[in-house]
Amino acid sequence: MKKSLGPKTLAYPLPAYLIGTYDLNGRANIMTAAWAGIACSEPPCLAVGIRAGRLTHESIIKNQAFTVNFPNSSQAAIVDFAGLVSGRQRDKFAEAGLTAVDSALVKAPYVAECPVVAECRLYKSLELGSHTLFVGEILDIKADEGLESPNGGLDLAKVDPLVFNSGGQYHKVGSGVGQGFSIGKALIKK
Ligand SMILES: Cc1cc2nc3c(=O)[nH]c(=O)nc-3n(C[C@H](O)[C@H](O)[C@H](O)COP(=O)(O)O)c2cc1C
Repeated sequence: MKKSLGPKTLAYPLPAYLIGTYDLNGRANIMTAAWAGIACSEPPCLAVGIRAGRLTHESIIKNQAFTVNFPNSSQAAIVDFAGLVSGRQRDKFAEAGLTAVDSALVKAPYVAECPVVAECRLYKSLELGSHTLFVGEILDIKADEGLESPNGGLDLAKVDPLVFNSGGQYHKVGSGVGQGFSIGKALIKK
């Protein structure tokens, strides 16, 4: 028997991304976002839900662009900090000791200290209620040297991504359990 938990915003694991933008005065800012994920392959898109009222919300609309920065597990305190205070009052890059790098492709900064970053131009936005779903077209992914896996893509053990559990703890990811688009073939009846 399952117990009903009601209509909650529960999904897991959630990412713990840093969204990079320039504010209306051209100052670099980051905000933490967990309500996000890949949304389309062609064009490659990433979607993030951002509440109206966040500085980041108005910055994305102004510049039609944002970066998505993928922190590693050692950066949990920085990620939490960026989700607790607003760029309206604080210089989060300076206070967290982070370096803002100007993206050549979009009008947004990325975080040099994050191992992987995505540069996105605003592709579409959808007003959902409390949050706006911003869909960014990924124009480029930049990753630190040496993170690639032999099968293409990135080696998660080397990337060591930070993940989040709705309303709770930050986590590291565990070990792999099988090859995608492959281990399931054993269950396809001939
Ligand atoms: C773990 C975590 C996840 C968060 N996820 C989101 C999110 O997905 N969308 C959102 O609008 N706010 C989210 N927040 C809250 C914002 O990061 C927070 O309001 C931040 O101060 C906004 O910064 P800004 O005003 O500089 O844009 C999250 C905060 C934390 C700590």
